[in-house]
Amino acid sequence: MPNILADKKIVLGVTGSIACYKAVDLASKLKQAGALVEVILTESAQQFLSPLSFNSITHQPVVTSLFDTNSEAGINHVALARRADIVVVAPATANTIAKIANGQADDALGTTVLATEAPIMVCPAMDGNMYESPATQANIATLKERGIHLAGPEVGHLASGQTGIGRLIEPQQIASHIRLILGRNGDLAGKKIVVSAGGTRESLDPVREITNRSSGKMGYAIAEAALDRGASVVLVSTPTNLSSPVGATVVLVKDAADMYQAIITESKDADGLVMAAAVADWQPVASSGQKAKKSNKKTWAIELTQTPDIIASVSTKGLIKVGFAAETESVLQNAEAKIKSKNLDIVVANDVSSEQIGFGSDNNEVTIIDRLGRVEETGLLSKYDIAWQILDRTLEFMKAT
Ligand code: CTP
Repeated sequence: MPNILADKKIVLGVTGSIACYKAVDLASKLKQAGALVEVILTESAQQFLSPLSFNSITHQPVVTSLFDTNSEAGINHVALARRADIVVVAPATANTIAKIANGQADDALGTTVLATEAPIMVCPAMDGNMYESPATQANIATLKERGIHLAGPEVGHLASGQTGIGRLIEPQQIASHIRLILGRNGDLAGKKIVVSAGGTRESLDPVREITNRSSGKMGYAIAEAALDRGASVVLVSTPTNLSSPVGATVVLVKDAADMYQAIITESKDADGLVMAAAVADWQPVASSGQKAKKSNKKTWAIELTQTPDIIASVSTKGLIKVGFAAETESVLQNAEAKIKSKNLDIVVANDVSSEQIGFGSDNNEVTIIDRLGRVEETGLLSKYDIAWQILDRTLEFMKAT
């Protein structure tokens, strides 16, 4: 199964912020995803957490001092830095950020950050005033100039009891930033992929709309897998309950007409278009500006007109077009017909009548059919794994173009 974090060597530097409890969760998420996580705890961080909290999760020795002869960092302080695929400092206090900006090497984290050739990511966490102080801002600017990645902080509840900027971003988000950095030289690097997701909503009046049961999960999984492989991703989506994939440009749209505009614009310089959205085929002929009243009517006949077929309308030269075919009967025949009628390179046929893989499920089972007549059944897999297979085939066509 594809997994961008598997066997990656991640050095996690944890500094003395109250948010450092979140680093335990982060270490756990990274470990569960198959990464080798080696933790460096600064002295201040040890006031909040014991090395055992991390050691029990990572099953690796935790580095607590540069001068500890029992620790590898004490014996060879650059070994960790050398084998790292990425060094992540989360949470990073104002003090640690200042030390990194000045190249200080008076502890194990400082030496590792200085000595590594791997990408470095810093996730600030501190009081809002400390974050906004000219000194911290200048230090952060220095880090960015040197190519260090910054992730967060976000606005929210702070330890001081106030609300403001300075909150450590959530572990899930940090993990996504790590994936983005590790994947940036992947096989889709340099490619722009436009993905559509969700179900469009066609307004009848200000309070009523016609929509469908698409959750958006398949499109979001495609966006995530493409990002993990280094693509630049534009996700054109209707509002969903899903969080935006880190690193994607998200264009929010409501109805089929909005989606049409966004896809036509974004596809102009794209290498691939994957239309996972469930686009309404029909829109009301007239949408009322005021809420329609019941009055004395016993029935309400709504006249609908066809929406433009978005994927069929996109004709960018060299663009690889991937459509989905949501079917309840004659799945393969209907899907194959869509390759011709919409001029697609690939169609992903989906039997939406199957109970196991109903709307909103995390799994799917599809048949990938291409314009050369190849037919591949995926079996029941996670939507992320299916996304990976769809992108494999898409990349093959990109290479051949
Ligand atoms: N699609 C599109 N624009 C539309 C309708 C659909 O771009 N107005 C795209 C979908 O995103 C999907 C593919 O076309 O990738 C097939 O969608 P589907 O609903 O299965 O097919 P339809 O063309 O709507 O045909 P039918 O409903 O008659 O099966």
